[in-house]
Amino acid sequence: MKSAASELSTLRGAAPILAFDVARLREDFPILHRSVHGKPLVYLDNAATSQKPQCVIDAEARYYAELNANIHRGVHALSQQATDAYEAARDTVRRVINAARREEIVFVRGTTEAINLVAASWGQRLQPGDEILITEMEHHSNIVPWQMLCERSGAVLRVAPIDDDGELVPRELERLLGARTRFVAVTHLSNALGTINAVKRIVDLAHAKGAAVLIDGAQAAPHIKIDVQALDCDFYAFSGHKLYGPTGVGVLYGKAALLEAMPPYQGGGDMIREVTFAKTTFNDLPYKFEAGTPHIAGVIGLGTAIDYVSEIGLDAIAAHEHQLLAYATEQARAVSGLRLIGTAKDKASILSFVLDGVHPHDVGTILDGEGVAVRTGHHCAMPVMEHFHVPATVRASFALYNTRAEVDALFRAVRKVQEVFGHARPT
Ligand code: ALA
Repeated sequence: MKSAASELSTLRGAAPILAFDVARLREDFPILHRSVHGKPLVYLDNAATSQKPQCVIDAEARYYAELNANIHRGVHALSQQATDAYEAARDTVRRVINAARREEIVFVRGTTEAINLVAASWGQRLQPGDEILITEMEHHSNIVPWQMLCERSGAVLRVAPIDDDGELVPRELERLLGARTRFVAVTHLSNALGTINAVKRIVDLAHAKGAAVLIDGAQAAPHIKIDVQALDCDFYAFSGHKLYGPTGVGVLYGKAALLEAMPPYQGGGDMIREVTFAKTTFNDLPYKFEAGTPHIAGVIGLGTAIDYVSEIGLDAIAAHEHQLLAYATEQARAVSGLRLIGTAKDKASILSFVLDGVHPHDVGTILDGEGVAVRTGHHCAMPVMEHFHVPATVRASFALYNTRAEVDALFRAVRKVQEVFGHARPT
């Protein structure tokens, strides 16, 4: 059966798509038909992981049912077909992020592994006293690898602060970018606040100081069109599973010249050219960084997910999510005792909040009872929680298949929380 997205794309050849047909797109996602605690599922935890369309589920299953073989290792037909499918996904990723060369696309387990790869490998060139600049809004996966690198190398970690809207403070960032700054690691879109950072400007400022830049695109990839050549970033990292693809697979983009100069991250099969006990020489890019049997099915599924999103159009998806965020923000502002955490001018898809007198985990539990799935906790961004003096937040995050009716369901459930806790006030 054709997915709604592929039918849309067939139609697109003949006539422009007039409307983003969310009801039809929802049909592509089998899990959205299930109920939770006897209520229809309202899935608003997309920043943690998004749901998968049937075409992605089928692509993974088809690999195991029809192609399963190891890649780059066999002359037999299955191995060659599996290799072709795996390498085709690399071309798909290259196209969608506009990398100059396919060798610049390294498949990894996810954004976390991509960042660790860069910290472990590129980081070997750091000297004591060199500086790495991150920001206060980073996810732990874009903090801890740099802290570990600083401990190993004697480099110094600097942190660019945010203001009370959850935006970077440009003059502070510029002040912290100094002659000793060798590396800047910054999120494109904050998972805890929804803030979109002006990453192109940060790249330009960092390059002017001779520093390399990694952008953590884990949250941005499903919402913002990425053009690594236009951004001129040195590294860009993202995960498959937030982009409607499988878990356990992600992408590290790196400029070829940098990747060429970097030592391997892990040793093993496929990353070598020749091994003797006296000396091992390494494979060409990108294989130098893909030791061992990769998540072949996952990579193929990721390629399918990117095709799916591309067929619908990331701009159309972003516009839909933007409307949902605006609608949800308006509703949130009408709830007395609700404080939004993250009010940046440029935001996408994430609504974090706290309710007076109710712990976020209790909010999440009552919402769950109503079928509404949100994330509650520190969102792997404890410094953000510290900035806003909260232990945790409730976070609703939107994807292409969410609806205004689901936003209404969220706020009905929020009002129920206030009733349960005796905090209901006239709004
Ligand atoms: N990083 C993911 C989140 O923000 C898991 O929920």
